[in-house]
Amino acid sequence: MRYTAHSAKSDPLDLAPLELFEGRNGRSFVHDASRGLPHDMMSVSLIYAELPWIGGWEEFNRRAVVGSEVTYKAFAKTIEASIVASGVPAVLLVGAASARLFDAPKSFAVRLNYAYSSICSVLCINFNSAHDDMIGVASTARYSADLLARLAESFASVGDFACGYGNSGRIFANAGRRYVMSDINGRCIRHISQQGWA
Ligand SMILES: C[S@@+](CC[C@H](N)C(=O)[O-])C[C@H]1O[C@@H](n2cnc3c(N)ncnc32)[C@H](O)[C@@H]1O
Repeated sequence: MRYTAHSAKSDPLDLAPLELFEGRNGRSFVHDASRGLPHDMMSVSLIYAELPWIGGWEEFNRRAVVGSEVTYKAFAKTIEASIVASGVPAVLLVGAASARLFDAPKSFAVRLNYAYSSICSVLCINFNSAHDDMIGVASTARYSADLLARLAESFASVGDFACGYGNSGRIFANAGRRYVMSDINGRCIRHISQQGWA
């Protein structure tokens, strides 16, 4: 099944930006992750994000009311350091060209369920041997939505700091789990606020 997601290749949302939305199963708000993880994301049981790809970085910044002022490489380094410091298990989906910017080992590949169904590298950070079985099951997922559904079986809440249209929150909320989501673009937060699941 295909889902709509925020892509630098598709048309920008024609919506007024929204700073914060409190939903039934979680909250979504504007945050520039190039400054590090939002404080609220330190208390989730899993961090999950489909990162902007290098090729979309400029376009995503143009779409935000206030764009990030750092390079993509600096963004990648800040995110990784912030996740490692938090100690929270994290699953990051990154484009092949971006994977080399991270020290985290590439664990497996997955295909996005979206119109641009690219193959991503899945990086797992802060996982230990107790997570081996769960990662083994998750790594057999062919598509990102299946990966998220499997992760929602093992983790009570998800934090997504590049949430776009909020597919991670949607899948966790539909599984009865909680979410904390943020994005640099307030139009994405408005979009999430208009979804029936949120
Ligand atoms: C590949 S999209 C994520 C798609 C998302 N999983 C969905 O369900 O729509 C990457 C997202 O990262 C966001 N982004 C780009 N730069 C960011 C930054 N500095 N801080 C936070 N989010 C950022 C973009 O606005 C975009 O929504």
